[in-house]
Amino acid sequence: MRLLTLRLTISLIVGITLISLFSSYYEVRFQKRGLRRDLEHRAEVLGESLAGKVEPYLKKGSRKELQIIVDRFGDRERLAGVAVYTPQGASIVITPGLAPRLTNEPAVVQQAATNGQSAGQFIRLGDASVYIYAVPLHQDEALVGGLAIVHDAGYIDAQSRRIWRETFLRVLVLVFLITLTTLLIVRWSITGPIARAAQWMRALRTDKTSFRPTVPDLDLFRPLANEMANFAASLRAARSAAEKEAQLRQTADSFWTAERLSVHVRDRLGESRLFVVANREPYIHRRQGKSVEAIVPASGLVTALAPVLCACDGTWVAHGSGDADRETVDKHDRLRVPPDDPRYTLRRVWLSKEEEEGYYYGFANEGLWPLCHIAHTRPMFRVSDWEHYERANRRFADAVLKEMEGMDRPVLLAQDYHFALLPRMIKKVRPDVRVAIFWHIPWPNPEAFGICPWQRELVDGLLGADLIGFHIQSHCTNFLQTVDRVLESRIDWEHCTVNREEHRTVVKPFPISVEFPENPVPREAGESIYMERVALLRELGVESVFLGVGVDRVDYTKGILERFLAIERLLEKYPTYREKFTFLQIGAPSRTHIKRYQDLLAEVESEAERINWRFQTGKWKPIVFMKRQHNHHEIQRFYRTADLCLVTSLHDGMNLVAKEFVAARQDEQGVLVLSRFTGAVRELPDALLINPYDIEQTAEALRFALEMDTEERKIRMQRMRRVVREHNIYRWAGALIAELCEVRLDEAANRLESRSGYSPEQSAEAVGVDQSVDDFHHASPVTATGDQVGALLERKKSVGHGD
Ligand code: G6P
Repeated sequence: MRLLTLRLTISLIVGITLISLFSSYYEVRFQKRGLRRDLEHRAEVLGESLAGKVEPYLKKGSRKELQIIVDRFGDRERLAGVAVYTPQGASIVITPGLAPRLTNEPAVVQQAATNGQSAGQFIRLGDASVYIYAVPLHQDEALVGGLAIVHDAGYIDAQSRRIWRETFLRVLVLVFLITLTTLLIVRWSITGPIARAAQWMRALRTDKTSFRPTVPDLDLFRPLANEMANFAASLRAARSAAEKEAQLRQTADSFWTAERLSVHVRDRLGESRLFVVANREPYIHRRQGKSVEAIVPASGLVTALAPVLCACDGTWVAHGSGDADRETVDKHDRLRVPPDDPRYTLRRVWLSKEEEEGYYYGFANEGLWPLCHIAHTRPMFRVSDWEHYERANRRFADAVLKEMEGMDRPVLLAQDYHFALLPRMIKKVRPDVRVAIFWHIPWPNPEAFGICPWQRELVDGLLGADLIGFHIQSHCTNFLQTVDRVLESRIDWEHCTVNREEHRTVVKPFPISVEFPENPVPREAGESIYMERVALLRELGVESVFLGVGVDRVDYTKGILERFLAIERLLEKYPTYREKFTFLQIGAPSRTHIKRYQDLLAEVESEAERINWRFQTGKWKPIVFMKRQHNHHEIQRFYRTADLCLVTSLHDGMNLVAKEFVAARQDEQGVLVLSRFTGAVRELPDALLINPYDIEQTAEALRFALEMDTEERKIRMQRMRRVVREHNIYRWAGALIAELCEVRLDEAANRLESRSGYSPEQSAEAVGVDQSVDDFHHASPVTATGDQVGALLERKKSVGHGD
């Protein structure tokens, strides 16, 4: 770096000096020429005027008078003297000062006296430089001599020397200033930032804890700085992946990471590509004034699948529902997402308003959603909705098939109740596609499902898949029982498979999950969770000691009203919590085109209002209802700082809010109060389990959560975190894909087995499955999930919250 600075400085000095000298040379030449011209001009004027005066006296031959005239004349400034010569070159008169210096007639005077032409010449007289101007003298037209006007020209040289001197000094100052400035610029803009960058990179390389996560500002080298930031991010990711791998080897545990999933998927799929079809897209482009915003929708499905797609690349086919969605795709209706770090392809499918109304709002959300969730909202079944549902399934299937064109043995993960018919549609055209469908919501018992006029078609469509996934075993059992009731098929109860028309479908539970952040959340130095909560409450305009949080789409399955009633009961029963406990409900408005959802939203608002009105004092209120969708990042703050998280679903396939809350609690604090009617309850027995219909019990659980001692909170949270960490979303996807690939490999064996006369009845008897077990919601937890939930019930009894 020093050598570079030296070279730069020398180049600058040489360059500036040469340019300055060159320009000075021209300046001196120009000035000199000007001064000479000026002198010539003055000499000419003087010469002509003096010649006119001298000629009459010359005629008279009066030498004395002639001398007086030249003496008077020769007295002027810068005039060295005047002399008059005969045509033969003899001096007639000469001013006294000039006489000793000019002993002979100058050649130029000689010429003028001979050819009658005035002329001038610069010559040297001894040490001095002079200018001699010669004028011919006439008498009656005849040449009678020559007049010499001699000017001192030394001042012109003096002037030139002065200019050179000044130039030299100017160059000196300039070189000094420019060198100084250059050195400072180099130091501030190049050497300094590069030194900082080097220091930063060293810290990064040696993984110093003090190393700053942001790249130093490199001013001129911004593109380099950006690249360094990317490089740093990759290095950090690689290091953390390597660490995780090392830990994995060390503990021989089965922790799944994005990297492990992507290796696993590549290994399993080989050359095949991964496709996902889901109604909801991971990014909705919406118009906001003049700009377009990419919004991540409130959807458990999106929360779970987005990291998987990021890890494996592939194509997500979904309904383009945003008002700016069409503007953001290419001519094949595709775009790469996430917008700020593209990792996979989103292919949008367009639906008309009428299709959306019938397929999405109608059949999917007014029919199947309340049919599968036992939450006491009556399902609506309309023929026109069903027709739209069929057509939309066809439309999405076509889009998927188009995306798969020319691809060898692709893999499709279809998602949820919007696409029950799609697996068979795909298989009919492309039997080589390995198809799995994951049902993100519960599957009710066959009696409940039996009210659907199209149950046969739905079940048949699903059985087109090679693999059907549910969150928990009891949903699988309910599904198999439904199949048993409505279709001709052979069910293997032991292996949970259905054989129908030479095709085998495996039905299995895959408890979905979330990402589990391993790295500590970056926070300002000295900022504690307590301080973060103080700041958050201040933003909410509330003063409170304890904070509870609930995060949901405003959906009647989530038990939001029951939750509010429990909070009211807590405050009634235990007035000590008044002015001390505030519950923050984040409610993302959902499916508001459906009247039931509109009414619910209004009801939730007015219930919060009523309870607040009843208890509110000064700056405290019991419920803060934030009616808008919050992004993942915003929600993390609430999860991190709350004393408890309340999940009161009346019925829920899994409920990822419970797992997100656990994943966010790096401090191993916070209590989860969880409805026993969620799928998550099977994996999180250390939560306080409640029946959300039992307001009294939920209120008690709230009190218990608020009064739980730190150690107990820690033990419970540690255990829950271990489960969520190990059973994270990457493991879910890895297991699903592995199973799907196995299903294809086993196909030939499956055909053999189906010819061996193996009967479903025998199988059911053999394993002792009690098919009458799922009474209302799903099979009893003990039957369905075994030891874990049994242990949970034991533990719950011991803390007084068992039900
Ligand atoms: C549930 C469903 C998802 C759905 C989400 C949001 O989690 O299982 O398929 O995306 O709700 O609902 P929405 O209708 O807004 O997509």
